[in-house]
Amino acid sequence: MSSDSPIITASAHSVPSYLNADNLGPWGIYLQQVDRVTPYLGSLARWVETLKRPKRALVVDVPIEMDDGTIAHFEGYRVQHNTSRGPGKGGVRFHQDVTLSEVMALSAWMSIKNAAVNVPYGGAKGGIRVDPRKLSRAELERVTRRYTSEINIIIGPNKDIPAPDVNTNEQVMAWMMDTYSMNEGSTSTGVVTGKPISLGGSLGRREATGRGVFVVGAEAARNLGLEIKGARIVVQGFGNVGSVAAKLFHEAGAKVIAVQDHKTALFDPAGLDVPALIEHVAHNGTIDGFRAETISAEQFWQTESEILIPAALEGQITAANAPHIKTRMVIEGANGPTTPEADDILRERNILVAPDVIANAGGVTVSYFEWVQDFSSFFWTEEEINQRLVRIMQEAFRSIWQVAQENKVTLRTAAFIIACTRILQAREMRGLYP
Ligand SMILES: NC(=O)c1ccc[n+]([C@@H]2O[C@H](COP(=O)([O-])OP(=O)(O)OC[C@H]3O[C@@H](n4cnc5c(N)ncnc54)[C@H](O)[C@@H]3O)[C@@H](O)[C@H]2O)c1
Repeated sequence: MSSDSPIITASAHSVPSYLNADNLGPWGIYLQQVDRVTPYLGSLARWVETLKRPKRALVVDVPIEMDDGTIAHFEGYRVQHNTSRGPGKGGVRFHQDVTLSEVMALSAWMSIKNAAVNVPYGGAKGGIRVDPRKLSRAELERVTRRYTSEINIIIGPNKDIPAPDVNTNEQVMAWMMDTYSMNEGSTSTGVVTGKPISLGGSLGRREATGRGVFVVGAEAARNLGLEIKGARIVVQGFGNVGSVAAKLFHEAGAKVIAVQDHKTALFDPAGLDVPALIEHVAHNGTIDGFRAETISAEQFWQTESEILIPAALEGQITAANAPHIKTRMVIEGANGPTTPEADDILRERNILVAPDVIANAGGVTVSYFEWVQDFSSFFWTEEEINQRLVRIMQEAFRSIWQVAQENKVTLRTAAFIIACTRILQAREMRGLYP
């Protein structure tokens, strides 16, 4: 969460005692988004409180022995926001600033996202408060394995299926799968997605989120009558999501003119050499040091573009920078990058926002394919996967666009209308137990 994010308090909501009611953090943003959709839920609004609290939140201590012999403790979380439509599904984030509020919000956005693209999952998310850059590989493995053991009681191929998120990758997923399998006594590939191909991973998964960002960007551009060829693209975050999205826009003839990561921001009005930048990041872990003009964060947000892709962390587009953003559309690669105040400002300024819950749903869609392939032990070609991904993303985006037009609401509210209706219909049909 960026330090200039607004403080959202609990006034209008009943808040669990384990959150700070004076500063709800990302969970407060999510609650505001639910409030905006409630008037459109008809009789299902009776169930809306279901969405305003997680079904289950597990906080765990993760102790490990460091390489120097000392013992370090890290705080870990796994939150299952809703499982009305199927098992929990959502990534695991390793970051020093992760909080329970953040993981709760991310788990809720997963419920919405999975329902918006209609994959048969509920929403979940996990995280550890750790800076993995400060750990050796062996320490990272021990943190991952101990965390997996601690959350073992609530995850499983039919219960809750983790995946990669910020600072976690295929290797971390391989360790999680192995740890779960050792505890269960049999190899269980379907417990996580985003695995290496050799361990039941799916072709196309690594690029899936960035590819989805590109597909949604292209659809939105078509609706606005904007040419991708020659369009100027600005990308915040050059990790898995940002770099793949940048590469696909670059390949489609767009110019990626500015990129920012945790270290610096780069600008090239003629368009950055995206493949070379990806190579650079693979060797250096950052865009810093690449041959291009460096710009300040302020200049970065004011760079004129046709498409702006936030693909780093949440709370990046705020009431402070939204008035100065000069773009036609924002395609949210990251989860929760735009605060509700910023959303309003962008709307007033006629800047289209394709919300995270659809724009970055490509990852979970191919995770769903991976899970299905693992169950049947029958693997599809990359072409089949990409075709199915594009079809699902296009169909989901088109329905959201239509609902937005019909109700004269933003794409975010439209996505929430579709998703919350699906979740609450499932809730109502299943009924309360006992
Ligand atoms: N990986 C996926 O499949 C996936 C799926 C859906 C959503 N997301 C979301 O996309 C976002 C990025 O995820 P990722 O997997 O690409 O992570 P990543 O760890 O691969 O990359 C994160 C990038 O953000 C940059 N960054 C970090 N802090 C920053 C800051 N303060 N300012 C500017 N840049 C900063 C990092 O330098 C890095 O380039 C997250 O919000 C994540 O939840 C990821």
